[in-house]
Amino acid sequence: MDIKIKNLTVKVKEKTVLEKLNLNIKEGEIHVIMGPNGVGKSTLSNVIMGSPLYEVTSGDILVDNKSILKLTTDERARLGIFMSFQNPIDIEGVTNQEFLKMAINSNRETPIGLYDFIKELEENYKDLSFSKEMMHRGVNQNFSGGEKKKNEIIQMKILKPKFLILDELDSGLDVDSLDLVCKNVLEYHAREKCSILLITHYNKILEKIKPDFVHVLKDGKIIKTGDSSLADLIEEKGYKIFENNEKEQEEDIVYE
Ligand SMILES: Nc1ncnc2c1ncn2[C@@H]1O[C@H](COP(=O)(O)OP(=O)(O)O)[C@@H](O)[C@H]1O
Ligand SMILES: [Mg+2]
Repeated sequence: MDIKIKNLTVKVKEKTVLEKLNLNIKEGEIHVIMGPNGVGKSTLSNVIMGSPLYEVTSGDILVDNKSILKLTTDERARLGIFMSFQNPIDIEGVTNQEFLKMAINSNRETPIGLYDFIKELEENYKDLSFSKEMMHRGVNQNFSGGEKKKNEIIQMKILKPKFLILDELDSGLDVDSLDLVCKNVLEYHAREKCSILLITHYNKILEKIKPDFVHVLKDGKIIKTGDSSLADLIEEKGYKIFENNEKEQEEDIVYE
C-alpha cells in the first residue's frame, strides 16, 4: 500500500496540531516518527484512521493515489489500514474470541467455520505466548499494558492489513515481550510486504525493526528525515538539537 500525506493541517478542539505535514510511504517501506510528547504523533495516527475527534482543515491523505478523507474508519480498515493504539482500551462484555471472530468475518463474504477460526486463533495466541484462557476474557480486560500491546498484534495478524500504524508499540513491553512482538511484526512484514508507520521514543526497537526512514515531528510538521542514525543522535542528545534549526544550519552541524 502506497500512502501520501500532502500538506495535512489538522485541528483538535480549535488547536492546530499538524500544519502542512508531508509524508510519503511507499509499498513495503518502514517509516519511523519520533518527536517530543504532545507534538501530534498520535494525532497523525488517529487522523489517518479517520477519528471524528480530529478535523482536517486542509491537505489530503492518498492511499494508492485515492483520497481516503471521506471514508469512515471501518471503510479505511476494510481498505487494509490498521492502527495499534498507544493506549488500547478495554471492552467489557465482548470477549476477545467474539471480537476477533467479528473482525475476521468483516473481511469475508461468508462467515469463517468454527474449526478454522479456532485453529487460526490458537496459532496466533501461541505466536504471542497468550494462554487460551485469555480468549474468553473481555477485550483487554484485566490485561497488563504489555498484554494489551500483544493483543493489538494478534488483531493485526487476524485482520491482515496492508498498512500498519504502530503507535508506541514498545511502550509497556518488557524485553522478552518486545522481542516477541517485533518478531511477529517482522515476519508479517516479510510475508505480506505491508507498509509500516512506527511511532516510538526509543532507538532500542529500531535495532530490531530496521526502518527505511526516521522522521522527526515538531511544530506540526516533519522537520528532519534520516536513517536509524538520526534515532541514535536523538537518544544521545535529545530533541533540543532541533530547537534552532536555522542556527544549526549556519553552524553546519553534520548529523550523520
Ligand atoms: N482528543 C483530543 N482532545 C483534546 N486535545 C487533544 C486530543 N488529542 C490530542 N490532543 C492534543 O493535541 C496535542 C498532540 O497530542 P498527541 O497527538 O497525542 O501527541 P503525541 O502522540 O505526539 O504525544 C496535545 O497537545 C494533546 O493534548
Ligand atoms: Mg502519542
